[in-house]
Parts: sequence; C-alpha cells; structure tokens
Amino acid sequence: TKTVPSDAVPHEYQGHIGDVTSNEQTVSITVVGASGDLAKKKIFPALFALYYEGCLPKHFTIFGYARSKMTDEELRDMISGTLTCRIDQRENCGDKTEKFLERCFYHSGQYSSEENFRQLDAELKKHEGGRVANRLFYLSIPPNIFVDVARSASRGSSSSRGWTRVIVEKPFGRDSESSAELTRGLKQYLSEEQIYRIDHYLGKELVENLSILRFSNLVFEPLWSRQYIRNVQLIFSEDFGTEGRGGYFDNYGIIRDIMQNHLLQILALFAMEPPVSLDAEDIRNEKVKVLRSMRPVHIEDVVTGQYKGHTRGGVHYPAYTDDKTVPNNSLTPTFAAAALFIDNARWDGVPFLMKAGKALHRKGAEIRVQFRHVPGNLYKRSFGTDLDQATNELVIRVQPDEAIYLKINNKVPGLGMRLDRSTLNLHYADRYSHEIPDAYERLLLDAIEGERRLFIRSDELDAAWSLFTPLLKELEEKKVAPELYPYGSRGPVGAHYLAAKYHVRWG
Ligand code: NDP
Ligand code: BG6
Repeated sequence: TKTVPSDAVPHEYQGHIGDVTSNEQTVSITVVGASGDLAKKKIFPALFALYYEGCLPKHFTIFGYARSKMTDEELRDMISGTLTCRIDQRENCGDKTEKFLERCFYHSGQYSSEENFRQLDAELKKHEGGRVANRLFYLSIPPNIFVDVARSASRGSSSSRGWTRVIVEKPFGRDSESSAELTRGLKQYLSEEQIYRIDHYLGKELVENLSILRFSNLVFEPLWSRQYIRNVQLIFSEDFGTEGRGGYFDNYGIIRDIMQNHLLQILALFAMEPPVSLDAEDIRNEKVKVLRSMRPVHIEDVVTGQYKGHTRGGVHYPAYTDDKTVPNNSLTPTFAAAALFIDNARWDGVPFLMKAGKALHRKGAEIRVQFRHVPGNLYKRSFGTDLDQATNELVIRVQPDEAIYLKINNKVPGLGMRLDRSTLNLHYADRYSHEIPDAYERLLLDAIEGERRLFIRSDELDAAWSLFTPLLKELEEKKVAPELYPYGSRGPVGAHYLAAKYHVRWG
C-alpha cells in the first residue's frame, strides 16, 4: 500500500478518465518568475539536466509564468539558449533538447490575479489529462510577492488528488519580524509540509558530503569537538561585485545574503550531534539544536567592509556605490567577518569564524578545520617558534575545484631529520570522472520526491534570524561605516585583527 503524502490535497476525484488509469501520476512544474535571471541561469537548465538523466517522471509538464508577454516558442528559445549538454559531451543531446522543449509552455499573468492563475490551472489540467496531478511551484520572484502568488495560486487552483509543493527562494525576510510575517502569510494558504525553503548551498556536493565524511569515517568523528578542534572557518568569496544586482543587494547586505543562510546552514550541519537517522526531521532537529545553542552575534565580534573602486593593470574596477541603483552614501556591507560561538558541551569556547565578501581577490567557498597542537610534541624543535605551522588542518573546498584535503606533518625523505607540511588530498577532478551536478538539480529532484532534508524548516529559520537580527539592527541604528577595501583585494585588515583576538589565522 502506498501512503498518501501529507501535502496531498484530498478531494472528490472528478477528472477525465480518458485513456489513462486513474492512479497514473503526473508532475506539473510551474516556474513563477520565468522571465527572470535565476530561472534562466539555474532552474530551467537544472530541469533539463534532470530530464536528460532520466530523473523526471514519465509524465511531466513545465510551465513558465510571469507578467512578461511571451509565447511558448519564445520561452523555448530563451531556455534553449542556456542548456548545455554537460552530462556527456560526446553524446549529441539535440534530440533530448527538442523533446524537453516540447514539454515546456508559458502562461503570462499577474502575480496577484486569481483569474490568471485559474487560466494557468486550466492549462495545467489539459496537460495532466486526468492523471493524479502533482504540482510543484517554484517562486523565483522577489519575496514581497510570495504571499500574493500563494493566495492567487491556491484560490485559482482546482483541487487535485496529488500533492502541491511550493519552493520559495531566499531571502526569507530581512530580520526575525519580517521573516515571521512572511511565514505567517504563506501559512494562510500552505501547510509547512508544502513549503520548501531553498538554500542552494545545501545542495552542493561537498556540503552534502559533510555528514558522510563525519559519520561514516572513524577517523573524524572522535576528533569533532572542542577537545581536538581549535577553530573552524567558513569562508565565502567572490571575485566580482554586485554588478546588476545592486538594487536587491543594497536592501540586504552580505550578512543577510550569505552569512545568515549559506554559511550558517553549513555551520549547523558541521556542528550538529549525530542524528537518530537520516530522516529529514531527525537531521533538522539536530541542526535547530545547534542554532539554538549559539550566542547571538555580538557587534564587537564583527567586522564589516565595502569595496571601493580600484585600477589595476590599466583596468578600472568600480566601487560598490558606483552602481546606479545604489545610493552614494550607502553603508551596506559587501564584506563581513564574524566570530560565532556554540554554547554546548561539544563546542564550548571554539570560535567559528565566518568570512564572506564580494569583489575580493578570488572566488571560492571552503570550510577549514584547524586542530589543536599535539600535546608534548616530540618534534616541536623541528618547527621552530611557529608551532601553529605544525597543527593539522582539514580543508573542505566546496567550490571551485572541489577537494577535501588534510594537512599533515611528514619527514622529508633522506638521511637527515627535516619535517615538512604535506597534504593528503582527495581532489574530485582526479578521483571522479563525471561532472558534479548543479545544486539546483539535487534540490529540484528532492522537492519532486518530497525529500525535505535539504530544505529549511520554519523553526530553523527563526533560530537563524534570532542570531543575526540584534546585530543587524545595531549596525543599522548606529550607522556603522564599513571599512573600505579595494576591489580585488583580500578585504579589510580588520578581519585579521578579529581573527587574532581569538588566536586564529585565516587559512
Ligand atoms: P528577478 O529580479 O530577475 O525577478 C524574477 C522575475 O520576477 C522578473 O523577471 C519579473 O518578471 C518579476 N519581478 C521582478 N521584480 C518584480 C517586482 N518588483 N514586482 C513584480 N514582479 C517582479 O529575480 P531573479 O531571477 O534574480 O531571482 C528570483 C528570486 O531568487 C529572488 O527572490 C532572488 O532574491 C532569489 N535569488 C536569486 C539568485 C540569482 O542568482 N539571481 C540567487 C539566489 C536567490 P515579470 O516582470 O516578467 O513578471
Ligand atoms: C546567492 C546570493 O544566494 O548565492 C548571491 O544571493 C551569490 O549574492 C550566490 O552570488 C552565490 O552562489 P554560488 O552557487 O554561485 O556560489
């Protein structure tokens, strides 16, 4: 017997029976905001990759929905411009592209119009053809219209025997209050089981691998505590500015854009206690416990920065405030470093240092775990005065060029006794020949399959906002001026003083 999913909407089935059996299933995926950047860059290519790999159900339809006027053909042209045959370069995927595009349609409408969503519903029904209709809505739109869409879509949709799920993109509010209000608004029309809050960092291969690394290798888990770990660093950097997204960014800043969600989610996964099972609720219970054990971030433990214009090699790189959509006197941070603490038995006193910035010298995301000194190290003389150089460090390079490496000490081969720092390196490109799927592929597939493990539960979201809201308010009330750093640099020097306060050196 098959259990009915908790997000299925029960009703008297009155569909057309036609030539399909009454329990055949279909999935309709509606990308709301289909004319936008994210839909083009990430969502449609991810759906194609899933189709290409045979992960979508036999019966599926994809609809784009937005206010822009577009025909089905125009949507298909837009989508086909972004599809790449990345899965197998040797195979000609032209056929699959054509077949995929035949399943893509477009409906133009307003976000707050029940009538327009009713029309969409009628279109969807035509394609669903009497099968059990499962529906996934991806809200790839600014958050201020999430609730309008939830209202219009729920009132404009006829009931169906299948499930209805809604993926919502970040940002989920600007602080605790606005986030709670957004959740309240959505819950008037959707149950918590139907809401899939996406944080695409949770869909990244190496973030997904964190639990496997910890819980399936004897050598790591026993060391995973204050007894052996000196500090943990969570680092995000981009080598480009906010060009093109300045309007959005200025209202949020780097703490809301990256730290409160992407880096904090990684931290929670990194630091949680072993869950009872791999079930979504067991994992999310442990993550929320970590978040609730943390101290709200203190302003003294934070450094903020903003990039300024810089000319290098004859090329001029603009300042953040050169963007026409950003006010000249903006104090919005494009860089932040912070020290966070988890007040529980496992992590008491261990600094978790976060650093996130735009327009820095390189692009990357990594987790660095610095271990303590070896007590009574027999070889300490060989390291001179800088014993920090001799401690082990585990690095999980989330992107680019995914790798997990452990820095160890080693004897330089030969008759003498000279020590050397070496790395045990799991370099993904050398170890695995197939390309790593994009985070959006995994998350879309999970949403279709009803797997909520990698989506954010509302209590996790509340706990995450509680940590950052007092800080964000204080920064704004005190009008704290960010330290300026040149575009393409390593960021403000204040970040080094912050780390030094906790005897940490950034990796
Ligand atoms: P866009 O600004 O491109 O908006 C998507 C679509 O929404 C637009 O094409 C437009 O469609 C409609 N829209 C835009 N602004 C408004 C408005 N003020 N009122 C009503 N409709 C509007 O966003 P993105 O595609 O970049 O992102 C979508 C969502 O995903 C946002 O919440 C964003 O914060 C989030 N996000 C985006 C990322 C990215 O890389 N782009 C990364 C992570 C999250 P039309 O005019 O045709 O109706
Ligand atoms: C988004 C942020 O959530 O993540 C962007 O809003 C940022 O500012 C992006 O550029 C980074 O994602 P990725 O997957 O390119 O590292």
